Amino acid sequence: MSDSQVRKGLNGVISDYTSISKVMPESNSLTYRGYAVEDLVENCSFEEVIYLLWFGELPTTEQLRTFNTTGRSYRSLDAGLISLIHSLPNTCHPMDVLRTAVSYMGTFDPDPFTRDADHIRSIGHNLLAQLPMVVAMDIRRRSGEEIIAPDHNKGIASNFLSMVFGNDDGSVANSADDIRDFERSLILYAEHSFNASTFSARVISSTRSDTYSAITGAIGALKGPLHGGANEFVMHTMLDIDDPNNAADWMGKALDRKERIMGFGHRVYKNGDSRVPSMEKSMRSLAARHRGQKWVRMYESMQEVMEARTGIKPNLDFPAGPAYYMLGFPVDFFTPLFVLARVSGWTAHIVEQFENNALIRPLSAYNGVEEREVVPISERT
Ligand code: COA
Repeated sequence: MSDSQVRKGLNGVISDYTSISKVMPESNSLTYRGYAVEDLVENCSFEEVIYLLWFGELPTTEQLRTFNTTGRSYRSLDAGLISLIHSLPNTCHPMDVLRTAVSYMGTFDPDPFTRDADHIRSIGHNLLAQLPMVVAMDIRRRSGEEIIAPDHNKGIASNFLSMVFGNDDGSVANSADDIRDFERSLILYAEHSFNASTFSARVISSTRSDTYSAITGAIGALKGPLHGGANEFVMHTMLDIDDPNNAADWMGKALDRKERIMGFGHRVYKNGDSRVPSMEKSMRSLAARHRGQKWVRMYESMQEVMEARTGIKPNLDFPAGPAYYMLGFPVDFFTPLFVLARVSGWTAHIVEQFENNALIRPLSAYNGVEEREVVPISERT
């Protein structure tokens, strides 16, 4: 096998077909089932987009009503899960809590080896209903606050925000504009073809393993800072810089040291991430309402230096980081927010993988020592 046959990181390799989303780096565009993501962000709820990802078409009013009724019926956590979460250390990363929660939930799957699409979508509903509750509970337990009960009349974004930031009497703490900006981020984070976490889910499903295992694995892949973990690192960087007037200097020095600047660059998009303009719009609208002009100035300054020094453009995590910060989320919960969205895309991909499955098992080029004989232990030096 020659060096030219090895594609490190599977860079440029097309491993299968998908009809779920299309990433078009030449035109900086992204479609979900043929609809431009910026069109969906402006015109649809997160639930409409989930329906689209799972069934291929946008729902009618009646279809959406039934879909929401089903999804909301899963909004309750069993006592075992609640006590498991409370038993986990407050010091662990919140992604570990989510990963553990999904793995635990998988132990109740009555039919783990089925490849039936309805069963997989029912797991998707379960996760979309319960993981926001797990995240809300984890945020609140870490600051010693009581859980807030879910509201079955609210959509996913609105219910989640009230469970995190609401008042005990059920009154909401977030404005309709905040809810909408958060919901826009969920739509933008929902799906992105064969990214590392989705591909991980598909690899696991390709062995005919169960959906909870595939999603547990996907959460592990998403946690890394080169993938979903980047949105947290963006904010850590911004908090470290602190003053927008220092951003150019900080960036210059970091680039001199050849450091990776989180929130910039992408394996597929080399001329800009199609999702950034929509998320940037939300970040700016949040800044206007939450006195966040400092973060906008820092965003602009960092982007300017990066462009001038490297030409590398921001990815979705760059505006999402400060947007989540202005909404009031603790920084180490930013990647779990990404999970709450991407679980919709993972579910669609698991269904698609099973529709036309082939075990994913690439080759490797061996570069270790040549063949040799075992020397008995008494003769080894
Ligand atoms: N900061 C500084 N330099 C960067 C960079 C960044 N964020 N992203 C890429 N580069 C540079 C690399 O250092 C490399 O330079 P070199 O050729 O001089 O060694 C070159 O650009 C190519 O990078 P490479 O890592 O090979 O490209 P990739 O396609 O494998 O990387 C990412 C894609 C996402 C892993 C990479 O851009 C990155 O690490 N970004 C930061 C993490 C992030 O925001 N992840 C979220 C992605 S949505």
